[in-house]
Amino acid sequence: GLTAYVGLTRIAEIKEGDVVFVSGAAGAVGSAVGQFARHLGASRVIGSAGSEEKVARLKELGFDAAINYREGDLVGQLRQAAPEGIDVYFDNVGGDHLEAAIGRMNTFGRVALCGAIAQYNDTQQPAAPRNLALAIGKCLTLRGFVLGQYLDVAGEFRERMAPLIASGEVQYDVTTRHGIEAMPQAFLELFTGGNTGKMVVEM
Ligand SMILES: NC(=O)c1ccc[n+]([C@@H]2O[C@H](COP(=O)([O-])OP(=O)(O)OC[C@H]3O[C@@H](n4cnc5c(N)ncnc54)[C@H](OP(=O)(O)O)[C@@H]3O)[C@@H](O)[C@H]2O)c1
Repeated sequence: GLTAYVGLTRIAEIKEGDVVFVSGAAGAVGSAVGQFARHLGASRVIGSAGSEEKVARLKELGFDAAINYREGDLVGQLRQAAPEGIDVYFDNVGGDHLEAAIGRMNTFGRVALCGAIAQYNDTQQPAAPRNLALAIGKCLTLRGFVLGQYLDVAGEFRERMAPLIASGEVQYDVTTRHGIEAMPQAFLELFTGGNTGKMVVEM
């Protein structure tokens, strides 16, 4: 949750009325991003995830539009989901998602570079984003962060967001695997989308 909050408030500097797109939207960070964004003033919240079940869950969580990227044509799906463009892109995936988002960003848009899970196991340099030069004409800001540099935000986060979680206005999912022997498989499932929400191994 704190990663989502820092990315939205400190990195993307979310403003009232922003259209927000988040990838990895059914995951631990992504599902928090979408729900917090709404409470922080977003006018429209769009998420992408890797299955129809996850897309349905995102709609239950209040996302205005959700994309199943495994259906293909990410660019076309994003155009449909964000007809007026995107002001904030919260990137958990990198690669094709980052490229598609850059193409859809509005002038003075802001990109919070949180993760690039599509690239973590690459053995060669990634081919995308091939359209980075668009960031010049669109006056975009692309800014990376690691949570460890922003732990001082934890108090503010607790004060503003914990009541929303306690009241059930913001929900979170947990996917549980059992036992230390399940740990490697649970880790690998992060790369195949085996989890909805936080992946937890109970011991
Ligand atoms: N900057 C920081 O301080 C910080 C802190 C925490 C996490 N992170 C990063 O934030 C991201 C989310 O972390 P999390 O802990 O919340 O994990 P998560 O989103 O709960 O789990 C990973 C999800 O990524 C999706 N995914 C895997 N491979 C993909 C691909 N090739 N293309 C598109 N989606 C893919 C899968 O969902 P689908 O079924 O939708 O594919 C999977 O469920 C990760 O990139 C992580 O490294 C950064």
